[in-house]
Amino acid sequence: MTYTAKPTGVRKFDGDTLIVLTFGAKDDFFSLAAAEGFEGLPGELSVVHPQGYSFSRVIVAGLGKKSDLTVAKLEAAVAAAARRAQALGGKRVGCVLTDEIANQFGSSKAAEAIVVGAALGCYTFTRHKSDQKKEEKKKIEECIVLTSAGRLAGVSQGVAEGKHISSAVAFARDLVNEPPSVTTPSYLSEVARTLAKASPRVTCEIFGKSEITHLGMGGLLGIARGASAEQKFIKLAYQGGGRKTIVLVGKGITFDTGGLSLKPPEHMETMKLDMAGAAAILGIFSALPALAPEVNVVGLIPATENMPGPDAVKPGDVVTIMNGKTVEILNTDAEGRMVLADALSYATAKMKPDVIIDFATLTGACMVALGQDIAGLFANDEKLMQRLTAAALSSGEMVWHMPLAEEYRELLKSPIADLKNISSGKYGGAITAALFLSEFVDGKVPWAHIDIAGPAFAEKDLPLAPRGGTGFGVRLALEYLKQL
Ligand code: BES
Ligand code: ZN
Ligand code: ZN
Repeated sequence: MTYTAKPTGVRKFDGDTLIVLTFGAKDDFFSLAAAEGFEGLPGELSVVHPQGYSFSRVIVAGLGKKSDLTVAKLEAAVAAAARRAQALGGKRVGCVLTDEIANQFGSSKAAEAIVVGAALGCYTFTRHKSDQKKEEKKKIEECIVLTSAGRLAGVSQGVAEGKHISSAVAFARDLVNEPPSVTTPSYLSEVARTLAKASPRVTCEIFGKSEITHLGMGGLLGIARGASAEQKFIKLAYQGGGRKTIVLVGKGITFDTGGLSLKPPEHMETMKLDMAGAAAILGIFSALPALAPEVNVVGLIPATENMPGPDAVKPGDVVTIMNGKTVEILNTDAEGRMVLADALSYATAKMKPDVIIDFATLTGACMVALGQDIAGLFANDEKLMQRLTAAALSSGEMVWHMPLAEEYRELLKSPIADLKNISSGKYGGAITAALFLSEFVDGKVPWAHIDIAGPAFAEKDLPLAPRGGTGFGVRLALEYLKQL
């Protein structure tokens, strides 16, 4: 799909399908739709065929009450309308950005929301369908945001940003949706290399087993022992200028069987999702050169499979993390924290970070706490917490503040090592996992841990994503970097 902004009124629109967003004002299109029972409620759609225009079809989409409209709701309305346009065979689809909406969010942000809504609403993953031609033919070719001439600059800016952001999200979704035997640690490394080749401002380094051994990353080495695919430690760097360095870490378990603490089949079914943090980092880096925030960003991905091979780490084994702390691995299914421990130690020791943020599909417990749509946000710094909360709000990705409760730290004590990788007792698993990670950062460096176990993967179709990888974290991080 291509995206453009045009300073054109509805009369002059020369595509085949027009999307009209409405608060219920009784204009011509609304009246036509109302005759079919349309009320303009949020989520409501009506397809009408007005006389006297060059386009044949108008999709009227309800936004509900103006005072209740959020960016997320605007995106959802456009997504539903664009999907309908696509299903009806629309190829050149216009969407009217009214003054009312542009004034509420600003021209640029409103246009961005329209493009993000259309792009993510129409996202599909069809690479493994046998009839590629048929899949291609179904797609909308062009999405045109119609605006008044005076707003063209702002709207064009928003259209461009929306395009870069939604491509980055789709990039991450593709990686998650791809089968796990494709997206191995080596595959993710190649993706990172390709991103670096595409921009002079992005560089990439890949560490294999020998460098990882040399660095003393006992967590990553331990978890990788059961797998035949080689582990990789992927490092990307974006030079945006400015004085700050933000380190983003993504959990890259390319498949989580649980290891010897094997998962039951029904829990394993979706475990290709366990590199969604890594996919988010790669998605973010795919868009950084174009969005060009003035900040330096480092991306770190500890990548391995978690498999129960003959040499797999055993419950009771002790490993030493890069920062020197020893961990008794009592449950090999708590592998994410082991590889993140090394990545956070590396960030702390080697990168002189101003901020560290990790994205990880870390715990089922976080899903129990917050459900499937909301990520858990833990941070050791109030300002970082506030900034990420604000970025989440304006990006439409939902997070909720979770506590790094010191009272629970003793639950991670091991009788024979510094720490054990699971807590005593069965409650508060998202919190104890976050506390475990906190052992590998410097308390003086602002750090946030975002547990994306719930929102990384949609088990059913959502307004902005079909079943599968959602690309969660990409929009939040890009918005955060933009606002720095
Ligand atoms: N990758 C899982 C967490 C997960 C579960 C993500 C469901 C997405 C959906 C993680 O490695 C894991 O297995 N965590 C265990 C930790 C436990 C053994 C302490 C869990 O949550 O059960
Ligand atoms: Zn696991
Ligand atoms: Zn996992």
